[in-house]
Amino acid sequence: MIFMNYLNAHNYIFKRLAFIDVPNAGNFVRRCWKNLSTLRNGETAVCIVGSGPAGFYTAQYLLKFHQSIHVDIYEKLPVPFGLVRYGVAPDHPETKNCINQFTATVKNERCQFFGNVNIGKDILLKELKSCYDAVILCYGAQNDRKLEIPGEDTHGVYSARSFVEWYNGLPASRELMPDLSSETAVILGQGNVALDVSRILLKPVSMLEQTDISEYALKALRESKVRKVYVVGRRGPRQTSFTIKELREMLKLPGCRSVFEREDFLPLNERLSEVPRQKRRLLELLCKTALNPPEHETCSFTKEFKLKFCRSPVEILRSEMGNVSGIKFEVNNLIEDPHGSVRAEGSGKIEILNCGLIFRSIGYRSTTIDDDLPFDNERGVISCETNNGHVTGMPGIYCCGWARTGPSGVILATLNEGRETAKIVVDDINKGNVPDIRTENKGFLAISAILESRGIKPVFFEQWERIDACEQLLGSGRGKPREKITDTEYLLELAHGVKECTNDK
Ligand SMILES: Cc1cc2nc3c(=O)[nH]c(=O)nc-3n(C[C@H](O)[C@H](O)[C@H](O)COP(=O)(O)OP(=O)(O)OC[C@H]3O[C@@H](n4cnc5c(N)ncnc54)[C@H](O)[C@@H]3O)c2cc1C
Ligand SMILES: NC(=O)c1ccc[n+]([C@@H]2O[C@H](COP(=O)([O-])OP(=O)(O)OC[C@H]3O[C@@H](n4cnc5c(N)ncnc54)[C@H](OP(=O)(O)O)[C@@H]3O)[C@@H](O)[C@H]2O)c1
Repeated sequence: MIFMNYLNAHNYIFKRLAFIDVPNAGNFVRRCWKNLSTLRNGETAVCIVGSGPAGFYTAQYLLKFHQSIHVDIYEKLPVPFGLVRYGVAPDHPETKNCINQFTATVKNERCQFFGNVNIGKDILLKELKSCYDAVILCYGAQNDRKLEIPGEDTHGVYSARSFVEWYNGLPASRELMPDLSSETAVILGQGNVALDVSRILLKPVSMLEQTDISEYALKALRESKVRKVYVVGRRGPRQTSFTIKELREMLKLPGCRSVFEREDFLPLNERLSEVPRQKRRLLELLCKTALNPPEHETCSFTKEFKLKFCRSPVEILRSEMGNVSGIKFEVNNLIEDPHGSVRAEGSGKIEILNCGLIFRSIGYRSTTIDDDLPFDNERGVISCETNNGHVTGMPGIYCCGWARTGPSGVILATLNEGRETAKIVVDDINKGNVPDIRTENKGFLAISAILESRGIKPVFFEQWERIDACEQLLGSGRGKPREKITDTEYLLELAHGVKECTNDK
C-alpha cells in the first residue's frame, strides 16, 4: 500500500511537471514531496477554505495541536490573506503584521496554500470532502447588507465594501471609480468601517501617499471635492459601534474640524458615570469634543467630520440628471427594553440632507458557496450545530470566522476562534469521530487531478511570493511598501512565470 502510494505520487509529480511552468518545477516537486509524506505515513489530511485570518489561525493551531496533520489552504483569489489585504485600511500597516505569522504557518512542512481555487465552483464541497478527513470553511463574508430603500441604486450610492475594496486594489472592484465630485458625503452606519471610509475621504492625500493604497485611488482622492462627511446612525451616541482608537484618529485629522451637535450630548454628559467603563472613555471623548470645542481655532480647517444620530434612511433622492441629490431620513426615538437593549422607533418626522455621495456602511454579509451547504439566510451565516463550529448534518465539516459568526469582530477574535475550532477538529480526529476517507489518494494529490481536468492552475505560496516581490518592487519606486497588482490575468501570469514583473500594469 505504501509502495503504491509512493508510485502514484512519483508518477503524479512527473505528469504534473507539464501542467506547471518550468521555472517553478523545483518548488512544485518539493510541494508534492510534502504531500507524498502524508500518503506514506497514512496521516490526517485537513483542508481549510479561505486564507483570511480565520483560515490561517485555524491552520496554525491545527499544526500545533496535532503532530501528524497536513493542512491544505484553498483560496479563490490568486493571493492570500483575505481582509488583511483587501479590508484593513492602507494607513494601518501595523495591523497587517499578522501576515508574518501567516507566512510562517504556511512555511511549515505540513501546510500548503493553493490560490486561484474557488470552492463551490472549481471544486465542489462534496469533492473536497471525499479527499480530506476534515474540511473547515473559513470563507468570510464577501457581500454586504442592503438598506432596501427607494433610490439605493442611484449613481453616487456605493457600498462601503466596494469602496474599501477599490482603494485596497481588489481586482473585482478596481473599475468602481467612485464619483467624488460632490462636496458633501453621507455615510450610513456608525461602525469602524464607516470611520475607515471617512478617514480615507478626509485625510490629507499626502498622508496616504506612502501607504499601499492603490495608485488610481490616490489620483482620484487628489481630485476629490469631498469636504464634509456626515456619519449617520439610526440610534444614539451610546449605541455607536466604532472604537475609541479609530475615533481619536478622526478627531486628530489635520485640517479637519469635528462638528458634533451639543444637544445630542448634553443629556448623556450628565449620566456618564452610569456607563460601563469601556464605553465610558469613548463617550467622554465624544462629549468633550461636542461640548468644549476649541475657542480659538489656530489653523484653518478646510474639511468637516460630522456625526448625526437617531436618523434612519428612508429614501435616496436623485437630481434630474439621475445623480444622488440628497437623502430623506426619519427621525427616531430610542426605546429601551427591560433588559437594557435599545431600539430605534420612527417618530414620523422626516428630514432631508442634501448630498451628492452616499456610502452604505451597515455591515458585510456572508453567502453560501455550495448548494449542499446548510445556510441560515436570515442571519447570513453557515448553519452550525449548537453553534460550536460543526456544520449541521455534515460530519467532518466545520466552520470558523465571519462565515460562521457573521461580519463582526476584529482579527484577534479570529485567533481565539481559530484555536477553539482547531481544538474541536483535533478532538474529533483523536476520538475517531471524523468519517473515514476511502479514496485511494487523498489531499491535494486527488484534488489536483480534478483541477487539471478543469483547466484550473492553482497558485502555490512560492508563486504568491513572486507576486509579492513584484508588488514590493513596483511600490518602492513610489516610496510605498507595495503597489498592488489589480489585474487578475496578470497576477496569474506573473505567478506562473508566463510574464515578468513590469510597470505597465
Ligand atoms: C473594511 C474592514 C477593515 C477592517 N479593519 C480591521 C482592523 O484594522 N483591525 C482588525 O483587527 N480587524 C479589522 N477588520 C476585521 C477583520 O478583517 C476580520 O475580523 C477578519 O478578516 C475575518 O476573518 P475571516 O478569515 O473570517 O474572513 P476574511 O478575511 O474575509 O477571509 C476569507 C477568505 O476566504 C476567501 N474565500 C471566499 N470565498 C471562497 C471560496 N468560495 N473558495 C475559496 N476561498 C474563498 C476570501 O477570498 C478570503 O480570502 C476589518 C474588517 C473590514 C471589513
Ligand atoms: N480599525 C479596526 O479595528 C476595524 C476597522 C474596520 C472594521 N473593523 C471591525 O470589523 C467589523 C465590521 O465593521 P462594520 O463597521 O462593517 O460593522 P458594525 O460594527 O456592525 O457597524 C454597522 C453599523 O451599521 C448600522 N446599521 C446596521 N443596519 C442598519 C440599517 N438597516 N440602517 C441603518 N444603520 C444600520 C449599525 O447600527 P445598529 O447598531 O443600530 O445596528 C452600526 O452602526 C467590526 O467588528 C469592526 O470593529 C475593525
